[in-house]
Amino acid sequence: DESAGRYKVRDLSLAAAGRHQIRLAEHEMPGLMALRAEYGPSQPLAGARIAGSIHMTVQTAVLIETLTALGADVRWASCNIFSTQDEAAAAVVVGPGGAPTAPSGVPVFAWKGETLEEYWECTEQILVWPGDQRPNMILDDGGDATLLLHKGVEVEKVGAVPADATPGEAGYSEEGNLVLGVLRRSLAVDPQRWTQIAAEVQGVTEETTTGVHRLYQLFEAGELLFPAINVNDSVTKSKFDNKYGIRHSLPDGINRATDVLMGGKVAFVAGYGDVGKGAAEALRGQGSRVVVSEIDPINALQAAMDGYQVARIEDVVGEADFFLTTTGNRDVITAAHMAAMKDKAIVGNIGHFDNEIDIAGLATLAGVTRTEIKPQVHEWTFPDGHSIIVLSEGRLLNLGNATGHPSFVMSNSFTNQVIAQIELFTKRDEYPVGVYRLPKVLDEKVARLHLDALGVRLTELTKTQAEYLGIDAAGPYKPEHYRY
Ligand code: NAI
Repeated sequence: DESAGRYKVRDLSLAAAGRHQIRLAEHEMPGLMALRAEYGPSQPLAGARIAGSIHMTVQTAVLIETLTALGADVRWASCNIFSTQDEAAAAVVVGPGGAPTAPSGVPVFAWKGETLEEYWECTEQILVWPGDQRPNMILDDGGDATLLLHKGVEVEKVGAVPADATPGEAGYSEEGNLVLGVLRRSLAVDPQRWTQIAAEVQGVTEETTTGVHRLYQLFEAGELLFPAINVNDSVTKSKFDNKYGIRHSLPDGINRATDVLMGGKVAFVAGYGDVGKGAAEALRGQGSRVVVSEIDPINALQAAMDGYQVARIEDVVGEADFFLTTTGNRDVITAAHMAAMKDKAIVGNIGHFDNEIDIAGLATLAGVTRTEIKPQVHEWTFPDGHSIIVLSEGRLLNLGNATGHPSFVMSNSFTNQVIAQIELFTKRDEYPVGVYRLPKVLDEKVARLHLDALGVRLTELTKTQAEYLGIDAAGPYKPEHYRY
């Protein structure tokens, strides 16, 4: 469904189904609902025009409607071609009180199974607002909206797309040429579009490890155009979403894609950061024998102490039944690795971008054929007749093959997002260009908002105890360097 650039989703008639799911998700997202109660009356986001790029799921719908409940105007796209839940997208466009014939919600540009060209057009749509309006805040996941804007400004300075420009090289998605296509087209329409948008943007709040990494790179290169809050490194984000969220949504993705038993099998997990820890625990919980690989001696030692074999992919490539990448790095599983895997091995990535697994290289191996088992599940058959199963074409499989993390854990992440948006929008002067984390008291507040729902009874410090530890009884409870 589309209405002349006002929105673009799969089918507005899915809205009722989406609304039911959103209603149930609200019950599981106490942090966001508490923010609606706390800030609804004062409308701290009135005047904020937020361009949002996060997986367009049911949980994101609750985030979007929390932002609007706090006064913001919002336009939304997904940050991955496979991650949209079409019913959630439809429900957000229709709005809580609207009807498919008279949508009154938020403009969304997202559907499951976009082409890469469509993906970048959708990203453009959230940044280019109708009339003479422009966004003044960005909410990003993986940094693609931030990338498009920064590359746009760079290109407009030169007045043309430089012959050697390759934004894909920076380690963002590999679709550099598509980005350049969008920029070339926009130069012809308006040679100052991105410069004008960037001038009004007060800041970006970034969701994930990979996007945060890019923000620090931009800042260190002196190229960051506006302040950023690193939401990922709130403790209540990365130590919860990246770990416990993955622990839930990784097996969900594998099951929905293949329904192959994990118990008794050998599962190889590349990376033992927050995501790797959740992945390894989930697979062990299903009875898999888990083998971890790491490049960092500290994480490698952690994996060993947690009882996992730590090895290189070459050591187990012919033995493992599942191969899962969680590194946020590139070229972790090569085409040669895939050719050496055993028959019907399952290969998937749960890190942000698809360059962890060399699918492009696999496609160029002589005599290899690809069979679609169902959308986002493909069998690749080698000339000798053996085959492997690749999930979501190497894109994050928990969102491509399933519906991503469950609501409760996303409530933690998205409560951080909303607080970060309020911080940057209302305290612009306190945040010169740079990359910041939320203050620890706010991180603790996010956790606090989720305790009642789990029946947690927190112990309160006595005055004497607080003095003994040298902290305030109301927090923060830990020094900045504490690692949890
Ligand atoms: P992290 O930095 O905590 O962990 C990554 C680990 O991979 C590090 O310990 C690093 O030493 C290791 N590593 C790097 N290169 C490697 C290689 N070649 N072989 C083996 N290990 C290697 O990052 P985190 O938070 O675990 O995130 C990982 C990725 O997952 C990121 O791309 C992030 O954006 C993404 N992510 C995906 C989510 C999802 O729902 N699918 C949720 C949260 C994060």
